[in-house]
Parts: sequence; C-alpha cells; structure tokens
Amino acid sequence: MSNTIRPDESAVINSNRTPLRRLCEHSGKRRLIWIVVFIICIVVITVVVTTTVLLTRTGREKTTTTTTTTTTTTATATTTTTTITTTTRRWFSTGNMTTARIYHTASVLSNGKVLVTGGNYGGALNSAELYDPSTGIWTTTGSMHNAREVHTASVLLNGKVLVTGGDINGASSLNNAELYDPSTGIWTTTGSMHNAREVHTASVLSNGKILVTGGRKIVHNGSLDSAELYDPSTGTWTTTSNMTITRAHHSASVLWNGKVLVTGGWNGNIALNSTELYDPSTGTWTTSDNMNNARYYHTASVLSNGKVLVTGGNGIGSILNSAELYDPSTGTWTTTGNMTIKREFHIASVLSNGKVLVTTGDTDSFSPLNSAELYDPSTGTWTTTWNMISAREYHTASVLTNGKVLVTGGRGSSFNVLNSAELY
Ligand SMILES: *[C@@H]1O[C@H](CO)[C@@H](O)[C@H](O)[C@H]1NC(C)=O
Ligand SMILES: *[C@@H]1O[C@H](CO)[C@@H](O)[C@H](O)[C@H]1NC(C)=O
Ligand SMILES: *[C@@H]1O[C@H](CO)[C@@H](O)[C@H](O)[C@H]1NC(C)=O
Ligand SMILES: *[C@@H]1O[C@H](CO)[C@@H](O)[C@H](O)[C@H]1NC(C)=O
Ligand SMILES: *[C@@H]1O[C@H](CO)[C@@H](O)[C@H](O)[C@H]1NC(C)=O
Repeated sequence: MSNTIRPDESAVINSNRTPLRRLCEHSGKRRLIWIVVFIICIVVITVVVTTTVLLTRTGREKTTTTTTTTTTTTATATTTTTTITTTTRRWFSTGNMTTARIYHTASVLSNGKVLVTGGNYGGALNSAELYDPSTGIWTTTGSMHNAREVHTASVLLNGKVLVTGGDINGASSLNNAELYDPSTGIWTTTGSMHNAREVHTASVLSNGKILVTGGRKIVHNGSLDSAELYDPSTGTWTTTSNMTITRAHHSASVLWNGKVLVTGGWNGNIALNSTELYDPSTGTWTTSDNMNNARYYHTASVLSNGKVLVTGGNGIGSILNSAELYDPSTGTWTTTGNMTIKREFHIASVLSNGKVLVTTGDTDSFSPLNSAELYDPSTGTWTTTWNMISAREYHTASVLTNGKVLVTGGRGSSFNVLNSAELY
C-alpha cells in the first residue's frame, strides 16, 4: 500500500493549484490536514475489508493478495482503490471414494458430478460411484452389469455415459458395452463391439458417434488395428477402416476440424513414432508426420489454440521428458520445452486458463511420483507446481466445471491401491 503521488497525478494536482489554494485560504491548513488524515483512514479500512473478504472467499487455497492503492487529491478529494488478486493453487484432500480403485475411469457429467466406474481392487470391480463437487462426498450409484478395468468411458452428447471393453483380472478382454443414465443412476447393456479390446481409445465425434480404436485383446498379446463406430441413436456398432498400423496404449484426440489424431502406442514389439488422422466424413485413415520421439503411455491434449501437446511416455528403451506440439494446419510436429522430469502413466489436464497440468506417473517404471508440473503454451515452458498429497499412478484426473482438477485412486507408493481423492 502506498499513498505516493505518481508523476502523472502531480500534473493533475498542479492544474488544480488554484482551487486547492482557495480551499487552504478558506479553511486553514489544519482543516486540510484533517481531510488528508480522513482519506488515509478510509483507504486503510477499504484495504483491510477487501483483503479479509478475498481471503475468506478463497478458503483453504493459498492466496497472495496484491493491493495497489492510488489516492487522487482534487478540489473535491476522491479516493480510488484497485485490488489485484492472484491465487496460487495447491492440492487439498477431498472425500475418499467408497472403494479403492486402480485402472478405473472418471467422467464429468453434464450436471457437474463425476462418475467413477470399475477398475480393480483385489479383483475387477463392477461398482460405480458419484462425486458431488458441492459437498466433496462420494456416493455409490448403480453397478455395471460387467466388472471391468482398463476400459473406456465417454460422455455422449445426450448426457449418458458409454463404457466399452476392458478386461477382467487381466485374463479375458471384453467386447461388451453399457450405458449409464445419470437421471436414473441405472446401467443398461447396449450393442457389443465386433472386437474385444482393452487399453484402447474412445472419442466422441462431433456427429455424436463414438470412435473406438486399437488396443489389445489379452494383456501382453499383440495389439489391434481395427476401429469401430458406435451410433447412440441405434445402440449398435459398425466397423470402419482399420488404422494403418496396430496400436495399444496410444492416444486419440478430436481436432477442431473434426478429424481424430492418433499418436504413437505399442505395436506388440516396439514403441511407435507414427501418427494418423481419421476423417469421419470419409471413414478413412491417412498417415500424418512422425513424432520426433516414439512413445506409448504418453498423454495428448488439445490446447486452447487448437494444437495438440504430447508429453512423456515410454520411448524406445527409455522413459521420456520430451514434449512436442502438433499443428493441425500444417500436419507437422515441433519439439517444445522438456518436462522437468521423465514421466510415464502420467495424466495431462487442460486448465481453464489454457495451461496444462501434468500429474505424477513414474519416472523409473517402478515408484509412483507425487510431483506435478504446468505447461504454459504462451512460453512453451514447464514449471513445477505443488506436490500432490499422495504419490500415485494409474490414477484419473478430471477438470471439473468449477475449474478445479479432481484426482482419484491409483497405485500408491507402497503399491497399495488408493481410495483417496484430491483437488487442485
Ligand atoms: C481416507 O482413507 C484413508 C486410508 O484408507 C484414511 O486414512 C483416511 O482417514 C480417510 N479419510 C477420511 C476423511 O475418511
Ligand atoms: C495371443 O493370442 C493368441 C490368439 O488370439 C493365442 O493363440 C496366443 O497364445 C496368445 N499369446 C499370448 C502370449 O498370450
Ligand atoms: C481390418 O484388418 C483385419 C485383419 O487384421 C481384416 O480381417 C479386416 O477385414 C479389416 N477390416 C477392414 C474394415 O478393412
Ligand atoms: C520413426 O520410426 C521409424 C521406425 O522405427 C524410423 O525409421 C524413423 O527414423 C523414425 N522417425 C523419426 C522422426 O524418429
Ligand atoms: C530435452 O531433454 C533431452 C534429454 O532427455 C535432451 O537431449 C534435450 O536437449 C532437451 N531439450 C531441451 C530443449 O532442453
């Protein structure tokens, strides 16, 4: 807080010297001093009240409040207060899930709640539960007809959630799919895929259909090139063109032009650097440029400028810290800043301010991390942010409608399966 008069304001005061002098002559110097004291008191009270209100409103988050006060003295004496608030986000605990889970899914519903499905805790789970961001509490909802892990869950344009495939205890891959209705909390079976698959991708296209790609049939047994489309209006699956190469543990991102970019993955023998585009209007795949690094167990995020950021993962013989950007207008990849640490099994979440939050994973194929970092697309650089409360991997991270990020479950530092959840 300062009451110093800036050069541009002294010009204002100089131009008002005549009325100011008249005020002094009229009321005497004493009265002017009392007016100045009065103004200072008002400013101090305003700053204290504003700071208190801001600190109360942001609750448990760490808040840095910068208050700039400018006092402009004219013949009628007015006071202007400007407050700039910057909030430094950190992690804090929220309710535990009703069940510990690993290899599960989390989806933000149109009502703002988060649906968590299946996963594994001493065996594959069929249970599902809902997180209410307004209370921070988890409640069980209807159970799926099939227990499943390493499956996918997609929020359809009609608000229902489609889960597909996965496996049961790493033994048998599933081809079936089911739908969750948030208005009733009930699951119904829908058409089965033509191929059983797990560690595949599922993307909601702009026409409302779901594109499922690749994956594998049984743990550690090859990978798939097949792709299929789910039509929510009929509840049925149709095959579409095969990808140009088999992929599991790959990524799929819906671009602004409606095409789907698939990157990297594991073909059963080696990490892939190849990428390809699916055009929903023709139902065909075309290869796009190779990434600079082959990678699987990586992340891919569509940024607020339409580019795709790919981070980390497992390359050929090493875990990666590198990140690269795909420009859909040129179809080319360029490297961007390295993450501060090598990561696989991490998750990337695009925040409402356009930055990308990367959470945990591991750096040695062994011990889960608790660290997190932020990518700034405007500078192409990474900075570490607060550590999470629990080290974890195989977790989920969801950007809530209130802008916070909910992280759930996964594997903890002593290889325990976690029931805990935290918010950023
Ligand atoms: C959450 O679960 C952990 C471990 O299972 C337990 O230590 C902790 O007390 C629980 N927290 C709450 C709020 O129930
Ligand atoms: C892979 O799958 C094929 C059939 O789909 C099976 O014959 C083979 O034994 C499997 N291999 C492994 C390593 O599981
Ligand atoms: C996809 O490839 C498989 C063999 O891997 C083949 O049997 C199938 O017919 C192909 N599907 C399409 C739609 O081309
Ligand atoms: C991509 O991978 C292929 C096959 O492993 C390799 O021949 C090629 O040089 C790689 N390209 C780049 C850009 O690394
Ligand atoms: C990124 O890290 C790799 C090693 O993992 C290093 O070779 C490369 O020079 C780094 N790039 C930048 C821009 O720092």
